[in-house]
Amino acid sequence: METLGRVLVVVPTYNERDNLPAIVERVRAAVPGAHVLVADDNSPDGTGEVADGLADADEQVHVLHRPGKQGLGAAYIAGFRWGLQEGYDVLVEMDADGSHQPEELPKLLEALADGADLAIGSRYVPGGKVVNWPQRRELLSKGANIYTRVMLGLPVRDATAGFRAYRAATLEKVGLSGVESQGYCFQVDLTLRTSRHGLRVVEVPITFVERTVGKSKMNGKVMSEALWRIGLWGVTGLPKRLRGNPRS
Ligand code: GDD
Ligand code: MN
Repeated sequence: METLGRVLVVVPTYNERDNLPAIVERVRAAVPGAHVLVADDNSPDGTGEVADGLADADEQVHVLHRPGKQGLGAAYIAGFRWGLQEGYDVLVEMDADGSHQPEELPKLLEALADGADLAIGSRYVPGGKVVNWPQRRELLSKGANIYTRVMLGLPVRDATAGFRAYRAATLEKVGLSGVESQGYCFQVDLTLRTSRHGLRVVEVPITFVERTVGKSKMNGKVMSEALWRIGLWGVTGLPKRLRGNPRS
């Protein structure tokens, strides 16, 4: 097992004022060496100010203020750019609402230390679970993963998962400048790019717990972007797949 170096947990927020303090505290307790970057899209509920308060009290907490709601993918790209510039060795994605349990983060980091280039916290490998999701949401997520597998042929059970750890080197190899996904399909986008680069993607079972405070930001726009983009990647990658390249 290798040592990983400096870890940055990027937490995108839009109206998560009542969730943020607890999640930051849990990350700091679970992985005391890790730094946290809150990437806030100028949330109307004042999440940005709450984040500033947390950063003032703790030098391992940082805040990236973005001008307005530009989507989950755009927030992560900005957060990753910041982290790469600051020289972090590992960049983690985690939701602010408690669905991803910081106590499971060490498992993701271990997978990286064991050689993975991307470790995905997966709900759909043996041992993975979802707690308290309405049936509609579960069907949507499973449907999205089936659609992704059919379209892209990715060897990943949970390609839309939002709890993951990337080596900085992975993001540097894959490159962020060509990523156009604004919303949640960013997850599939980066999984596909990582896989196409021949890098090692490992799924680690996690338990996803539905939020108890605040609301999901999933909406029709997020879903339609995922539908058309994944469809387009599937069609443009098809010639290579037919020629027998398993990664495309
Ligand atoms: N900065 C910013 N900008 N943050 C956002 C935006 C945005 O436009 N949209 C959502 N977020 C933040 C939320 O505040 C939260 O911290 C996190 O991103 C996840 O948003 P949720 O709205 O809670 O997502 P979900 O629970 O419906 O979806 C979960 O499952 C998806 C599919 O499996 C997440 O884990 C997603 O990452 C995942 O793709
Ligand atoms: Mn959520």
